[in-house]
Amino acid sequence: MSTNQSIGYMNAPVPKDINLKEEIDKLRKEKNAIILAHYYQTGDIQDIADFVGDSLALAQWAAKTKADIIVLCGVHFMGETAKILCPDKKVLVPDLNAGCSLADSCPAPAFEEFVKQHPGATVISYVNTTAAVKAVTDVVVTSTNARQIVESFPEDTRIIFGPDRNLGNYINSITGRNMLLWDGACHVHEQFSLEKILELKKQYPDAEIITHPECKQPIIQVSDFVGSTAALLKHTIKSEKKQFIVATESGVIHEMRKQSPLKEFIPAPPNDSTCACNECNFMRLNTMEKLYNCLKFELPEIFVDEEVQKKAIKPIRRMLEISEKLGL
Ligand code: 13P
Ligand code: SF4
Repeated sequence: MSTNQSIGYMNAPVPKDINLKEEIDKLRKEKNAIILAHYYQTGDIQDIADFVGDSLALAQWAAKTKADIIVLCGVHFMGETAKILCPDKKVLVPDLNAGCSLADSCPAPAFEEFVKQHPGATVISYVNTTAAVKAVTDVVVTSTNARQIVESFPEDTRIIFGPDRNLGNYINSITGRNMLLWDGACHVHEQFSLEKILELKKQYPDAEIITHPECKQPIIQVSDFVGSTAALLKHTIKSEKKQFIVATESGVIHEMRKQSPLKEFIPAPPNDSTCACNECNFMRLNTMEKLYNCLKFELPEIFVDEEVQKKAIKPIRRMLEISEKLGL
């Protein structure tokens, strides 16, 4: 994923005496750039971004921005999705090595072969996929709209769902569908420990367990609420509960605390670590220094092959249209 264009720019030394926030702000204005950040970014990046959101919101903002440059503070597939939607804009990601284990668990040639083995099936792909996988997809979904988009197809539709087996299983369980699942997963969400979560629940008996659907089934089963990062955030704002055990990447807790300063958010711990929370090592590659360099040098840039872009834009647009109709 790393290319020569990134070398020497991403990690270029940043003068110690500058005010990073002010300089980033200056560059953004000078260059008519917009900074979009995912909830899993560090708090400083979320705070300086023009918009912070989940995968669906990032795609929606990218699709409608008038900016010349989009800086996507997230991972590679998010930058690619923005580039597919805006092929004439410059799309930058502060660290080009910010990949995604879930997207990597679904190589395009193997997925294409899987699709070929099931002629006539409708292909629904999670947004956490490469552009090449989206190019062989009928409709893209995120965890915010997956249920509704699956349910928009007649009940007897044969559906291939990829790449996340946990999200796929969860959607099958709540819709009664029997989608054929690709066997992929996210290393962050698969790492949460059921035992440690149940121990926390004993310590905080009034806390609600809130969980991202990329988590394994046993964790979903003990959860009070399951949803995308945006849905989890919304839930914590609306709920009358005061404590939440949060089973997703801990970056989202930054916005949860900002929105509900009087509530308590306890990160769910992973299995094999002494760490109390679970962070996505890819998401955390982006830093304020790299964001500054990225705006300054307008690198590293995301490129998508033209043929792939033309195919991949269709299922993404279809998702955006359905989401708009559903008011999502
Ligand atoms: P959402 O923010 O869409 O819930 O996605 C979670 C995720 O894992 C993004 O990489
Ligand atoms: Fe990918 Fe998982 Fe990181 Fe999200 S949290 S970017 S799905 S590896």
